[in-house]
Amino acid sequence: MRGESVYSKRKYNVVQVSQAKKVAETWLASADLQNSVAFGLPEADDRYDIWRVPLLTLGKNHRVGEVVIDAFSTLVVEDKTTRKEVLEDRLLGRVEKVNLHRKRNDKCFISQQRNTIAHGDSEFVLQEMAAGSVDLVFTSPPYYNARPEYSDYISYEDYLLKMRKIIQATHRVLNEGRFFVMNISPVLVRRASRSEASKRIAVPFDMHKVFIEEGFDFIDDIIWVKPEGAGWATGRGRRFAADRNPLQYKTVPITEHILVYRKHTDKLIDWNIRYHPNQKAVKESKIDGSYERTDVWRIKPAHSKRHPAIFPVELAEKVIRYYSFKTDVVLDPFAGVGTVGEAAVGLGRRFVLVDNEKKYVDIIRRDAKKWLGKSASDILYINCVADSSAPGTLF
Ligand SMILES: C[S@@+](CC[C@H](N)C(=O)[O-])C[C@H]1O[C@@H](n2cnc3c(N)ncnc32)[C@H](O)[C@@H]1O
Repeated sequence: MRGESVYSKRKYNVVQVSQAKKVAETWLASADLQNSVAFGLPEADDRYDIWRVPLLTLGKNHRVGEVVIDAFSTLVVEDKTTRKEVLEDRLLGRVEKVNLHRKRNDKCFISQQRNTIAHGDSEFVLQEMAAGSVDLVFTSPPYYNARPEYSDYISYEDYLLKMRKIIQATHRVLNEGRFFVMNISPVLVRRASRSEASKRIAVPFDMHKVFIEEGFDFIDDIIWVKPEGAGWATGRGRRFAADRNPLQYKTVPITEHILVYRKHTDKLIDWNIRYHPNQKAVKESKIDGSYERTDVWRIKPAHSKRHPAIFPVELAEKVIRYYSFKTDVVLDPFAGVGTVGEAAVGLGRRFVLVDNEKKYVDIIRRDAKKWLGKSASDILYINCVADSSAPGTLF
């Protein structure tokens, strides 16, 4: 009997050569090149969970490039796939322009995105936004909780796949060389009965793999430390505190990770600073005085009746000051009650806030008027049902 393939074990959504060809065909059709190339034999690369579909010249079968497909999401990985212009040049036998990429992109550009509030699933909402319309992403994703009565996800793999799709969608809207900062922690899956053990899942480590595979470079793992006492609510460590047996020792978590990534580029960070088109904003964004010198940040957690997992504004402010310039656009694809938006406005930045729960979007809509005053009338609303108290464009 043949063993289960690595594709089905990992629950790929692209498992057959014919499926990979179909995705590649659709991508080629979008460039009007479907009748100009032939396919070589598609191969899955399970080190990166991708499929590679070789593209060949018709007749002569010379390799001119490849389409790279994410085996989980079925989407084409644009920055690993041969660019359409390069394919055209090769097919027409034109000499490839040296450093074409560098020439096209030797200037950063300013996003035209207005302050935006969107109701919906970020995986789809972000697809409606222009590429490169965002300058920083700061977010904290929903928790994975294995208890089916509370969870939106059938399994942990299902949760990670959803996060992958949203990280992929943000990659497209994020400007070249800009930062994606994610606040995330290991989760505790409580035991279902007394005879079972509880389980911890190291979500940040799995998320790191997703970021790297989706075209981000790792920059920092900042540890957010809360005051002692903040973590006792989980009950972790109580058994050891009472019995003091070795092996039962478990820590009480009072830290969270702030993972910092940069969208992959061959350009140095200096390029983002020097070629920024608004040098006045660059100058005004300098961080004078004291700042966090190490990767340990001590910040009190925030609590609110309005949302169970809000950011402290202080945390959002630090991230925004360290990783964006004034007038930049800051996106939170899991916005909750919009703490990132509040901090962004306070620091002279624009915001894009997306949440799939109407009750949180309603709070953001109300609060945004306080943050922005009269300028709130310029907010762009996406998928927000018209209500007489909300100004701006509704669709
Ligand atoms: C951990 S909370 C973020 C709270 C936020 N940092 C704040 O300060 O209010 C995660 C949020 O993501 C939202 N969410 C979950 N899945 C989503 C999705 N697919 N698209 C958009 N929002 C989503 C939830 O409704 C929740 O409000």
